[in-house]
Amino acid sequence: MNAVSFSAVSKIYGPNPEITWPLLAEGASKAEIQTHTDHVVALHDVTLEIAAGGVFVIMGRSGSGKSTLLRTINRLIKPTQGEVRVNGQNICELDDAKLMQLRKTQISMVFQHFGLLPHKTVLENIAFPLSLQNIPAPERRERAQVWLARVGLTGYGEALPGRLSSGMRQRIGLARALITEAPILLMDEPFAALDPLTRREMQDEVLRLKADLNKTVIMITHDPLDAARMATRMCVLHEGRLAQVGSVNELRAQPATAEVHAFVAAMR
Ligand SMILES: Nc1ncnc2c1ncn2[C@@H]1O[C@H](COP(=O)(O)OP(=O)(O)OP(=O)(O)O)[C@@H](O)[C@H]1O
Ligand SMILES: [Mg+2]
Repeated sequence: MNAVSFSAVSKIYGPNPEITWPLLAEGASKAEIQTHTDHVVALHDVTLEIAAGGVFVIMGRSGSGKSTLLRTINRLIKPTQGEVRVNGQNICELDDAKLMQLRKTQISMVFQHFGLLPHKTVLENIAFPLSLQNIPAPERRERAQVWLARVGLTGYGEALPGRLSSGMRQRIGLARALITEAPILLMDEPFAALDPLTRREMQDEVLRLKADLNKTVIMITHDPLDAARMATRMCVLHEGRLAQVGSVNELRAQPATAEVHAFVAAMR
């Protein structure tokens, strides 16, 4: 079963997206569309299946649409066209209550810019998803303490996140996403701010969780070593379009474009 599937998903920023369709159909570039219509092509015609139970890695240059794609999965961004299915359910059709339920129980996310609550303590930030699930305070605290230690922040539970370094804040974001039992984990450059040793520990933590809980992990990274170490399958986006999808070995053996080649060449 596919955990997530995208069917002809496009996201165009601007007041009148329809005016870009004929240009896109002719194969106009993102820059041409921007110049002629003042609309931004964040994603165009992405069709992609992500199987349950693996680590799926999304790569691509800055601005290629990676965060946009990830954010359509929990509908933080609604596609302009196309369908996104999570466990077979078309999430573009969910009402607000069902969408909340999906976000609380099925999907957790590590945000690119951490997305912490600045006036809550580190421990309260980590426990936050559990409070949305109405889990009693003592249990919340106990589980948050476990994750505080696992991400190496013992002793910082009562601090405010603003007092911590960016690598420490990234670990709070990781702990907050990993504390839930949601089967789908979305991670937007989750290790970017970490030193190499901590990065490796956090990679191991995610791989262990994936194996123990059979989670589906969908991860954006710029780092070829992250991708090489973790990916079951991967894709490369280029200017909002899917350049290629497959296993790491497939992309290495037969990169479809020079762009893909450039990304996989650095993976060992
Ligand atoms: N709110 C917005 N309004 C207009 N354009 C936007 C908006 N959000 C994103 N974009 C554009 O959509 C495109 C894709 O952005 P996105 O954030 O998905 O890129 P990315 O691949 O995650 O980049 P990075 O590696 O820098 O995080 C970019 O051209 C960006 O400028
Ligand atoms: Mg991004």
